[in-house]
Amino acid sequence: MKLQDRVAIVTGGGSGIGRAISLELASQGAGIVVADLNLEAANGVAGEISALGRRAVAVKVDVTSSQQVKAMVAQAIQDLGQVDILVNNAGWDKLEPFIQSSEETWDKVIALNLKAPIICARAVLDHMIEKKAGKIVTISSDAGKVGSSGEAVYSGCKAGVVGFSKTLAREMARYGINVNCVCPGPTDTPLLRSLMGSGDAGSKILHAMVNAVPFRRLATPEDIAKMVAFLTSDDAAYVTGQAISVSGGLTMQ
Ligand SMILES: NC(=O)c1ccc[n+]([C@@H]2O[C@H](COP(=O)([O-])OP(=O)(O)OC[C@H]3O[C@@H](n4cnc5c(N)ncnc54)[C@H](O)[C@@H]3O)[C@@H](O)[C@H]2O)c1
Repeated sequence: MKLQDRVAIVTGGGSGIGRAISLELASQGAGIVVADLNLEAANGVAGEISALGRRAVAVKVDVTSSQQVKAMVAQAIQDLGQVDILVNNAGWDKLEPFIQSSEETWDKVIALNLKAPIICARAVLDHMIEKKAGKIVTISSDAGKVGSSGEAVYSGCKAGVVGFSKTLAREMARYGINVNCVCPGPTDTPLLRSLMGSGDAGSKILHAMVNAVPFRRLATPEDIAKMVAFLTSDDAAYVTGQAISVSGGLTMQ
């Protein structure tokens, strides 16, 4: 098992892609801190991981709060002994044309999709620098590479985390810390389903999305989780500063 005895924090680990990442890293041997605003969901995933025979802790945290994130990292180190891997996965968007969006929505989208990964990275770095080892993976999006209608500010944030991660990768290489991004295309999760809505318009957009993908299907959360497992393993020891698309060929850059 490639992540035997490692400990990973997965933000937004209670649902969708974060849940799949938590289960995949656990299946590779890691202990998991399922860090989510929704404690009930985090507890559910922690229970699934325990059933696999791996260590898991569910922590309620709002990743937009530096104070709560610091406390979550301290709890992770206290309960599981160390933090080897941070997966910045929690994210959210509201699908609407930019000219109809409010500043209140921009602030919410920026806080969760751009500032929270910065807060979480800062909170684990002293510990990783001391150990001279660590892996940070942030879930960006193909929207950050090529844009996505109805997701202007979100796309800006997802491009922003790529620039942040590349710089961090340069600064942290001397400490043996790898920093990368994974850019999913449309992925079948509760978030995607809620953005699409349940009506005809939603299923038309979904159909158009699938048609734009060379493999003609949505990603599964597990497709994304496998790439995160690779990037957080020693197999990817020489990979840093990358933004790798897992999107069935939707974007090829
Ligand atoms: N689903 C897609 O099509 C898609 C495509 C590209 C990128 N992404 C990105 O993948 C990531 C996961 O998305 P998903 O589709 O699995 O979403 P999801 O809504 O299914 O899961 C997100 C999880 O994050 C948690 N969360 C939300 N706000 C939080 C906060 N402030 N603090 C802590 N936890 C919080 C939620 O409770 C939830 O459990 C996001 O960063 C998203 O932007 C998703």
